[in-house]
Amino acid sequence: MSSASVAATEQALLLMRVKQLEEQHSSFRDSVICAFNQLLDLKDINTGVHSTRLAEWALRVARKLDIPEKDLYQVEVAALMHDVGKIGVPDAILKKSAPLTAEERAIINRHPEYSWSILRLFSGLEEASLYALHHHESVDGSGYPAGLKGCDIPLASRIVSVIDAYDAMVSNRCYRKGLPHEEAVRRLLNSSGSQFDSPVVEAFIPIAEQECNEVFAAAGTSMSAAL
Ligand SMILES: [Fe+2]
Repeated sequence: MSSASVAATEQALLLMRVKQLEEQHSSFRDSVICAFNQLLDLKDINTGVHSTRLAEWALRVARKLDIPEKDLYQVEVAALMHDVGKIGVPDAILKKSAPLTAEERAIINRHPEYSWSILRLFSGLEEASLYALHHHESVDGSGYPAGLKGCDIPLASRIVSVIDAYDAMVSNRCYRKGLPHEEAVRRLLNSSGSQFDSPVVEAFIPIAEQECNEVFAAAGTSMSAAL
């Protein structure tokens, strides 16, 4: 075998090994994300719909708003993991049914920064960590933690904000019953352009509508009763 063909074979083997390592890395990262998600379930932090459904909604909205396919993984991770920082908020505050004090509210409002500080440690999730950091911003600048406005807020964060709010509204909690789908949509529309991004709300409502009809058809019940 000539030295040129030996070098070519070695290079091919090396490339194969790099590919194997990349696959191992991404499969390990996916496992860690699943494990964190399980942890959120165990801590009862995830909201009513299964987080996988939340991720599915985010992807559908992202596709409608022409986010390129190559960027969808980061959107999916952000939808799954945006509230992971709530692990750092004491249960006594997180699950308090009485109104929160200003101090307690300030503690809860740190959770997007906690989520960012966890997700940024994963190599390859830098974008998802930023999306999680900004998922409580409002398009009029009144949100947190940075008070970003409009398009300064990453589109994926604006998507997570809308689907998460809808999910929270229609889900049952130990201290209150979920709102009917129609009322949740009315509230989304009411805050469209102030808290929520209008194009995201517009893209999401038909998806929520369809979801609501499917839940009704499958269970013969309302969205809130099924969650
Ligand atoms: Fe949140």
